[in-house]
Amino acid sequence: MKLIFSEDRERLYRWIVDQLEEVIDGNPSPLIGLATGATFEPVYQRLIPAIKDRDLSGLHTVNLDEYYPIQRNAPQSFYSYMRSRVFEPLGLDSRQTLVLNGETSDPKCACQAFEAYIRERNGIDLQLLGIGRNGHIGFNEPSHVFEMETHLTQLSDVTIKDNLRYFKSKDSMPLHALTMGIGTIMSAKSIVLLAVGESKKSALQALISGKITPQLPASILKLHPDCTVLIDALAGEDLDWSLGTRI
Ligand code: GLP
Repeated sequence: MKLIFSEDRERLYRWIVDQLEEVIDGNPSPLIGLATGATFEPVYQRLIPAIKDRDLSGLHTVNLDEYYPIQRNAPQSFYSYMRSRVFEPLGLDSRQTLVLNGETSDPKCACQAFEAYIRERNGIDLQLLGIGRNGHIGFNEPSHVFEMETHLTQLSDVTIKDNLRYFKSKDSMPLHALTMGIGTIMSAKSIVLLAVGESKKSALQALISGKITPQLPASILKLHPDCTVLIDALAGEDLDWSLGTRI
């Protein structure tokens, strides 16, 4: 796991945009795994002008996760997030983008179809990840096992508390989610995790100095051959920056 630190978030955002451009330019039909969350909004804001004039007809994307159940067009759905911030601005066709369907009556079948889609496209070339305060990736919450395949999961109390701000009340917030599995994430050819802000400090500390455990789902990334973790000054305050590269 490679670490990149910066006091300037802008440099981290630009680094990710450069990686995405490299994957798009280096492959006629790339499959990119996208993430949602507040962390990635500035990345997408910078990505759109950088690539919107390219021929993106060969590009396909999958998203990490979606609340369950949720109406696809609800403002809080990850589908709505992606549609307004990425798919529409880039003019991507609905056949080019796959977000797990929070409306499905058969979550198991939706998860299997999601795995099949990734296999048919020869796997994910680059997967973007954020990290939860509790070390979750996608919606793989702390657990006694790493759930390898895409699945329906229950949100943890920490995640419910953190994401409640997007909903009117706890009663209107979905308590479950569909998430790409840990094995599926790990099979991506390369992975980039972005952690910014003070709230990510202890998860980062545990990730970097702790052991690999399903209690901290992100810790599995230490076993990935091409995973880069980008860390800003606040998230990296307690870390030894000499363990990585400073940009
Ligand atoms: C969300 C998503 C994750 C995301 C994480 C951090 O709930 N399930 O995919 O990476 O939690 O979100 P944020 O970037 O808003 O801190």
